[in-house]
Amino acid sequence: MGFLKWPFKDKRNQQMEQDLDQLKIVPDHVAIIMDGNGRWANKRGLPRFAGHKEGMDNIKRIVKLANGYGIKVLTLYAFSTENWKRPKQEVDYLMMLPKEFLDTYLPELIEENVQIKTIGHFEDLPKHTKQAVQHAIDRTQDNTGLILNIALNYGSRSELVETVKSITADVKANHISVEDINEAMISDRLFTARLPEPDLLIRTSGEIRLSNFLLWQLAYTEFWFTDVHWPAFNEKEFKQALLAYQQRKRRYGGLEA
Ligand code: FPP
Repeated sequence: MGFLKWPFKDKRNQQMEQDLDQLKIVPDHVAIIMDGNGRWANKRGLPRFAGHKEGMDNIKRIVKLANGYGIKVLTLYAFSTENWKRPKQEVDYLMMLPKEFLDTYLPELIEENVQIKTIGHFEDLPKHTKQAVQHAIDRTQDNTGLILNIALNYGSRSELVETVKSITADVKANHISVEDINEAMISDRLFTARLPEPDLLIRTSGEIRLSNFLLWQLAYTEFWFTDVHWPAFNEKEFKQALLAYQQRKRRYGGLEA
């Protein structure tokens, strides 16, 4: 019940209180494809990195809102296994952002009881990125508020390949038999093991695709697409997505109750 921690003091927070009245069904897990940093910057005649910087600052704003709404897990697609194909300068900048984000915001995140986790091929990240993120993971591991789950060097297909390899190795070593393989076993070997599956996926900036994000985990997730670029995705937009979510009838392939 993260939203009970919200300090209902100033005008903005009164608005939040009204919003929470409207939000009767809050998704436990929201996943976001934060697209459009480059286009946001381009529209303003700024270099792409300025869009990424503003996108980074927006993460903090959205984390605070998500925590206030009582969302339990927020998974953010920050860097995909395909993003290494971008120019080196941009990759270097993106790899520097987690440290900048944490240097700036970790004390506030700790104060807000946020727990930081990551999914993705962590070992292949630059040392300075790993150090900053590992420090934040260690520092927040006992926090009980929102889980901020950052997808860093994440790709769903490679995640599934790794899972297949690990199950095959266990079969080969006679630790399990082929008959033991089931959906739960696969879920338990993904980066997202021990996290609930996303209830709501948001993608900003107008593209209607998944871009190799959580392909297994999104099987029954509700989708929300908006044309707004990530740095401009604000409280109003977020609330709109959450209100749309609560209108959805989730049937998981069955019939309505
Ligand atoms: C997609 O926009 C965005 C990314 C590839 C990077 C997202 C990263 C952040 C929002 C900041 C990360 C910060 C932390 C703390 C992890 P794009 O560059 O593809 O935009 P475009 O499609 O308009 O060019």
